[in-house]
Amino acid sequence: MISKHIFGHLPDGRAVEQTSLINANGIQVDILNLGGIIRRWLVPTPSSKQVDIVLGFDKVEDYLADQAYLGALVGRYANRIKHGKFTLNETHYQLEANQGGNSLHGGVDGFNRRLWQTSVLTETLNPSICLKLISEDGDQGFPGQLQAEVIYTLSENNTLRIEYKASADQTTLYNPTQHSYFNLAGHQNGDIASHQVQILASHFTPTDGNAIPSGEIATVANTPFDLRELTPLTAGLASTHEQIKFGSGYDHNWCLDDYRADLHQPFFAAMAIETQSGRKLIVNTTMPGMQLYTANFLGSEPVGKEGVSYQGNGALCFETQFYPDSPNQPHFPSAMLEQGQTFYAVTEYQIVL
Ligand code: GLA
Repeated sequence: MISKHIFGHLPDGRAVEQTSLINANGIQVDILNLGGIIRRWLVPTPSSKQVDIVLGFDKVEDYLADQAYLGALVGRYANRIKHGKFTLNETHYQLEANQGGNSLHGGVDGFNRRLWQTSVLTETLNPSICLKLISEDGDQGFPGQLQAEVIYTLSENNTLRIEYKASADQTTLYNPTQHSYFNLAGHQNGDIASHQVQILASHFTPTDGNAIPSGEIATVANTPFDLRELTPLTAGLASTHEQIKFGSGYDHNWCLDDYRADLHQPFFAAMAIETQSGRKLIVNTTMPGMQLYTANFLGSEPVGKEGVSYQGNGALCFETQFYPDSPNQPHFPSAMLEQGQTFYAVTEYQIVL
């Protein structure tokens, strides 16, 4: 089932709409046309009370003030590009360095701040909507006009499937992601100590102190980055490993073992389990990498939903992506989208109650 209402207005008067995808099991995902933001993700509990498993805000102005990308679609390039510089077909491009001397999450006016044109694809079982955005040639410094499409489908097996499609009239970069902050105990829970995480990755990309990959594809063995078995995150977060210090926690890209460039069906990449409730999140994707971000910098946002103030390490992000700074690391899988080519990627978040 789908229901719609006006969530609020932008300063210029345009309406921000919220569309709710509701399945027969009582899962409800609320999505804004602003930034394609997942604002609420309600799941049923045995006591018949619902729990909201993502962080978010209650007002449009709070989303406009937010610097943490709560729940948003990120583009054109999720994560960082060193000094905002890259070269395509021998042309040099310079993006704005909007964080620590680097470009982060597509620039100051990224896809997370745009109004996407939303249409309903399926109203009944497996409710589905399509969001469309035209990003003009030169938008935030990126070449070519990009036509982006994101399809959100909530299936009756409790999976939110996110399909990313795009094409451009010039060769450009495209690396979209979804920046939901999950706390499977509920957005108001405050910390992630009761969560265990598994990531099927034997390697990760270590960074410098500004979160830019050094270029090394390092083994996870004997490091806090070895999450190949379900692992509580608390020990890793407290570790004195240099990479954990650099990220102020986990804020790194894992190289997913089962990635293949020619794959169009998502593979199992990661899982989180909240040990008190037993609730699980399974992440499947077609993308080569995934940033696990333990919300290390949360704490200065506007007050969250229902008056909850969010704190550092209060949530987990599973940002499927091309590796950070891939345009400057030729041995990383390429985020180049050639003129006339069609981009297609899928990421699924399945909730197991
Ligand atoms: C990503 C980055 C983090 C941080 C958040 C947004 O996860 O890797 O360093 O910038 O986005 O706050």
